[in-house]
Amino acid sequence: MGVASMMNIAQAATANENPAYSVRHLASEQNLISVKNAANYMLLPVQDNAPEARVILITGDNMPVGVAANVRLAREHVDYYVPFDLSAYHGDNITVQVQGLPENACTWDKLKLSETFDTANREKFRPIYHHTPVYGWMNDPNGMFYKDGTYHLYFQFNPYGSTWGNLSWGHSTSTDLVHWEYEGAPVMPDGYGMIFSGSSVVDHYNTAGFGEGAIVSFYTSAKPSAWGDSQSQSMAYSTDGGKTFTKYEGNPVLTSGERDFRDPKVFWYAPGKHWVMVLAAGQEMDIYSSRNLKEWKKESSFGAKQGAHGGVWECPDLFELPVEGTDETRWVLICNINPGGPFGGNAAQYFVGRFDGKKFVNESPTETKWMDWGKDHYATVTFNNAPDGRVIALGWMSNWQYQTVLPTLQYRGSNTIARDLSLYRDENGELLMRCAPSPEIESARMETREIPSFKVKDSYEIASLLDDNDGAYEIEMQLKNSGASRIIITLANDKGEKVHMHYDIARKQFVMERSESGLTDFSADFPAMTVAPVDDTDNITLRLFIDRSSIEAFGNGGKFVMSNLVFPSKPYNSIKFETWRGNFQVKSMKVYKLK
Ligand code: FRU
Repeated sequence: MGVASMMNIAQAATANENPAYSVRHLASEQNLISVKNAANYMLLPVQDNAPEARVILITGDNMPVGVAANVRLAREHVDYYVPFDLSAYHGDNITVQVQGLPENACTWDKLKLSETFDTANREKFRPIYHHTPVYGWMNDPNGMFYKDGTYHLYFQFNPYGSTWGNLSWGHSTSTDLVHWEYEGAPVMPDGYGMIFSGSSVVDHYNTAGFGEGAIVSFYTSAKPSAWGDSQSQSMAYSTDGGKTFTKYEGNPVLTSGERDFRDPKVFWYAPGKHWVMVLAAGQEMDIYSSRNLKEWKKESSFGAKQGAHGGVWECPDLFELPVEGTDETRWVLICNINPGGPFGGNAAQYFVGRFDGKKFVNESPTETKWMDWGKDHYATVTFNNAPDGRVIALGWMSNWQYQTVLPTLQYRGSNTIARDLSLYRDENGELLMRCAPSPEIESARMETREIPSFKVKDSYEIASLLDDNDGAYEIEMQLKNSGASRIIITLANDKGEKVHMHYDIARKQFVMERSESGLTDFSADFPAMTVAPVDDTDNITLRLFIDRSSIEAFGNGGKFVMSNLVFPSKPYNSIKFETWRGNFQVKSMKVYKLK
């Protein structure tokens, strides 16, 4: 050891007044933290815009054990803390190695050892009835399934910060699709890489040999490395209903030379008595089959010259849906795409057609169909084994264009509300997907305010929607147009922040504009106007789900959906109706406070 690093040690010993640990700074930004009588957690101070440092737990003989994480350890200031779990070594003397952090970083004084990690909410923008991670980063929903009365939602999770990294599967459960309980992060990165998106199945017939009713999950092992990025498909199974997972010893189960090769969606194809895996590969979806979930055979590829190709295809799904009013069914292939969405960044397109267990055929190859017409709806997939034949989808409510700079710190990322999917035929004979709010959302209703019917000639304002408005509510309304060429609906707060919405009757469109909605300047891509087609502009039903940082508009029973984030400094509490030319009637209007 050189003289310089010896000095570092001496300085650290005097500078560090926290008796629970001591730090040795070695050369080249290498550091050793010695902890005596370890507590459950080392709380690591994070600065979101700092570069990543590597934190590794090492044993007495200097071997890395347990957790290793890339953490944006604080250099100048602390944005928040993340827990580094030492509970397996509680009471022991242990060493934590930190690579890539200079000696003058404030981390060395701000580290804490603690028996607990406080996840009480500290964010004013945290939604009230939408799923969010209790702390840390979240992107795609993963591995969703239903079993024995419980919905399981896994998600792309960084347990070591509110930016993308250390991708693992976080886990939350719910019995009503609205109120979620965090259950930990049961699938963590390993030697094959980070844990990217994927799916789960309930193996009712024990085809894989892990047990009847075992949960078998598929994910992409992703390893960026100097020797070339690799993405392969891996498997993990759970025999305790999704709480803990064992990684399959034969991993990876599927490899390829393709650079973008990921997000396996697996389901049981009953007519053929086999499993199907749909996998995003570049700008196509590959379809595989298997009898035992372990060996997979490629059957076909879908996507050339189909739909939008403005970006990478990701997070596929494939399922059968009834066509409303008939006894027919069709198959729907969901293809999330980034970038290449209609309003910039990501979006979810879908194809409607036929599937024989091996090959998907799109029935309307000329039209690109979008599941949601907002900017913040992505990576949408459905629950496996959902009850009563329902097909229930959940999306990530954000956009890669600005997700990393959203104005929250303790957590970053939320999900849409759950949506029940079905197919209907429009007036041109085209089969389109209806995405209706799952009825469980009604369990969030607290109080109802009913507003008597009124007519709008020029304008009509309701100055206060709710006496006690904490930013989480639903507005349900029915409108009847009588000759208006535009029906304008503006939500606002008393800070002058507002969201403009309108129906353009001639164009048959619903428009939402958020450039004055509150905080918008964190990204040039955030202020935006989004536009959805509307089938009927004479008789309008509209349900607006407003939460602290989002608005989801469901038109005409889910024939269009538009999900957009907004960051008002106070909840919008007034609504104003305006008209151009003719007038319209608000036939019914209800405001529900949601919790
Ligand atoms: C989509 C995605 C997936 C990938 C995951 C990584 O948002 O890019 O394709 O598995 O995020 O976090």
